[in-house]
Amino acid sequence: MPEPRKNRVFSGVQPTGKLHIGNYLGAISQWAENQDDFENLFCVVDLHAITIPAAISPKAFHAKTLEVTALYLACGIDPAKSTIFLQSHVPEHSELAWLLNCVTPLGWLYRMTQFKAKAGTNQMVGTGLLDYPVLMAADILLYDAHYVPVGEDQKQHIEFTRDLAQRCNAMFNTRFIIPEAQIRSSGARIMGLDDPNAKMSKSIGEQKRGHSIGLLDAPSAIKKAIMSATTDGGNEARFGHAGVGVRNLLELYAVLSKRPHDEIEAEFHGHGYGKLKKSLVELVVETLRPIQERHVDLMKNQDHIRAMLDTGARRARTIAAVTVTRVRDAMGFVRSNI
Ligand code: TYM
Repeated sequence: MPEPRKNRVFSGVQPTGKLHIGNYLGAISQWAENQDDFENLFCVVDLHAITIPAAISPKAFHAKTLEVTALYLACGIDPAKSTIFLQSHVPEHSELAWLLNCVTPLGWLYRMTQFKAKAGTNQMVGTGLLDYPVLMAADILLYDAHYVPVGEDQKQHIEFTRDLAQRCNAMFNTRFIIPEAQIRSSGARIMGLDDPNAKMSKSIGEQKRGHSIGLLDAPSAIKKAIMSATTDGGNEARFGHAGVGVRNLLELYAVLSKRPHDEIEAEFHGHGYGKLKKSLVELVVETLRPIQERHVDLMKNQDHIRAMLDTGARRARTIAAVTVTRVRDAMGFVRSNI
């Protein structure tokens, strides 16, 4: 008997800023851990990366795209088990985004919190920034993905994708699968070390030392960032009682060590925060060391990375082309014979 088809997973990271431990814990590490359970597509979403064009020069964007692809591999995404590709290599992403644009009410886009936040801090707001959620919906719906493993900040985007899929299915017979977000119970919202009231961010991390733990940061930088992390004046190293800064450190320790909360509290409570910080430095450095070593090796052979991306794009396009034909037919476009 043929094996039943596995459920499909799609996710992606924008090649912008400095990838950090939040991106790893909230997204990439769970992709890697669950690879055997699903049919996986992991995309470097380079078309999304240009929605704030002033944030990155073409040269830096080019280099960052290859760096992030190599990071997927270094973090354990296996091309034998997962399709790894660049969004811009599969033109169906842009085509489906256009088709979806035409059924998306503008009001849905204006109320997205990420748009409001980003539009507020950027001088030039391009149409692409407003349209970001539609392109993201196209990414997911193109592959009929059942699950989308992401950090908590992407929840609204997945809700938007579900609503749009339902709307399209009702207006036309597009038969989109309604996807579900896969959000970890812990590690899905890592906070900034310098300001634990704000989410750890790739763009702030690039500009400001001590904000984030970069996946490619040297051990000395990691040590500095964690040892100077903002904490309160108390000594409550307990998950339910600590202030936001200490809770963030405890959470990082718990997710990385995979140890139960009571054991961690027994080890660190009553010792001041120095012991927790020192142990966290060791744990983070040891977790990132093999990833960084693999990344250095991978970046030495960029031809290999490009060849793998070609294979990935070829595989992704076979699925994407079928979906776009289905949607075109459902919407009434005349088929072409060329
Ligand atoms: P991006 O590039 O901002 O972030 C990549 C992934 O990292 C997660 N993440 C975090 N998780 C925990 N703590 C944090 N502080 C933290 N910061 C970021 C994000 O939730 C994300 O999972 N819109 C997406 C990219 C995208 C996408 C898609 C994702 C485009 N199309 C389709 C899934 C499916 C984004 O901006 O990710």
